[in-house]
Amino acid sequence: NVLILDFGSQYTQLIARRVRELNIYCEIYPYQKIPEDLSGFKAVILSGSPFSVRNENAPHPDLSQIRGKLPILAVCYGAQYFAHFSGGKVEASDTREYGRANLTVIKDGEKLFDKIKENSQVWMSHSDSIIELPKGGIRLASTTDVLNAAYRIEGEETYGIQFHPEVYHSTDGKQLLENFLVKIAGTKQTWTPGAFVDLTVSELKEKIGDKKVVLGLSGGVDSTVAAVLLNKAIGKNLYCIFVNNGLLRKNEFESVLDQYKHMGLNVKGVDASARFLDALKDLVDPEAKRKAIGNTFIEVFDDEAHEIQDVTFLAQGTIYPDVIESVSVNGPSVTIKSHHNVGGLPDFMKLKVVEPLRMLFKDEVRRVGAELGIDKELLGRHPFPGPGLAIRILGDVTEERVRILQEVDHIFIQGLRDWMLYDKVWQAGVILLPIQSVGVMGDERTYEQVVALRAVESTDGMTADWVDLPHEFLQKISNTIINRVKGVNRVVYDISSKPPATIEWE
Ligand code: XMP
Repeated sequence: NVLILDFGSQYTQLIARRVRELNIYCEIYPYQKIPEDLSGFKAVILSGSPFSVRNENAPHPDLSQIRGKLPILAVCYGAQYFAHFSGGKVEASDTREYGRANLTVIKDGEKLFDKIKENSQVWMSHSDSIIELPKGGIRLASTTDVLNAAYRIEGEETYGIQFHPEVYHSTDGKQLLENFLVKIAGTKQTWTPGAFVDLTVSELKEKIGDKKVVLGLSGGVDSTVAAVLLNKAIGKNLYCIFVNNGLLRKNEFESVLDQYKHMGLNVKGVDASARFLDALKDLVDPEAKRKAIGNTFIEVFDDEAHEIQDVTFLAQGTIYPDVIESVSVNGPSVTIKSHHNVGGLPDFMKLKVVEPLRMLFKDEVRRVGAELGIDKELLGRHPFPGPGLAIRILGDVTEERVRILQEVDHIFIQGLRDWMLYDKVWQAGVILLPIQSVGVMGDERTYEQVVALRAVESTDGMTADWVDLPHEFLQKISNTIINRVKGVNRVVYDISSKPPATIEWE
């Protein structure tokens, strides 16, 4: 197990992902909350930080329990930390160094740079420079602009690097992490999907015993993988509830429910469409819609959960990014949109929580899903928001408008599949706009709905670029939509990236 101490860098999660990609397990802790018991850890990585070590309020945790006892790789701020507080010197750089650089000099025979050649490209992002190394420091590498790009401290397994090995632009970054973790710290590369499944299934058996568990399925990857894992551990004692909020894609409820049954899950489909539509009546404000949907879901789910006798646990498909975001050094991030599926259970349900995917990143969830034999198509599905089509229908959500959007969305998504574009896009959907536009049909003037198509590339939804779909495809889809869906006479394509535009329009 590897400990990553987070000083608030935007790249901390990326460090964890790279380590996991090496099949090595790691956990992120904020620097203020260093675990007291370090016996399970074989190595420590210190992250970068938005702070300067020269700031009065810069993070300055006591590392005496770690330093000299465990191998340390200190990245960026971490490297400056030792220089500043342990006998070296850090000063503001003349210019902020940001972007690609090359390691022009690498000291021979150092384990950290094994298999890494001179001129290797690295990614820099800092505005302070290490002018003097910490006491006992030995320079290991330099770039044209940065003399002390990497060092080690004599007599310890403490390494400092100014660049960011976790960023893709550091070409040998993964090799460097492997050198540190495997060659220097001796960690084992045994964190595989198979190992995770075996371990988790036995832990779940132990924790749950013969008690009953209830779980809400959404049709998404996370809840599905969580359900299959639990099913493997406790079988029929897992009660899955799949709620149709009437805001899903066309035919989605029926087809996914069918798939769940084929997977051997003990699942109950509940069609609560009318209840949700009722709750959405006259609501146009996006946050009001989200709240109404969230609350209705809780009511429906609670009603259903009461139907099951003696339930002890509530299972959730929470994944690692949701967990670490809530303990981030920067404090909980500002609510831009209230994603209601994080945050646990309402008090009145009084159930214990099990979250078998709590420690996994999204790509790991997919790999575990594949290991469990879940259908590729299901695992490769685009993310879909909890409030569903309600936040893609700008303005009033009515049965008729849901139906129109379902038709249009179906044509777009099926089109992406037919043109082999679906897997090239991270998320796609259609927005039904609250305006009408003028058109002509034959000799008649029409005044009908406008829809916007949206397709984005992303890795985690935090940032996204619009996808330049083939024009021929867009032309075909636009024609099909206008010809087939009565009430729509105009199709536009959203060419905005996030930031500043979010993926959803509401
Ligand atoms: P935005 O629109 O914030 O979306 O760029 C980022 C990702 O989050 C999804 N999203 C939601 N998911 N409940 C959810 O479960 C919500 O209220 C919600 N709002 C946005 C969005 O589809 C995208 O994948």
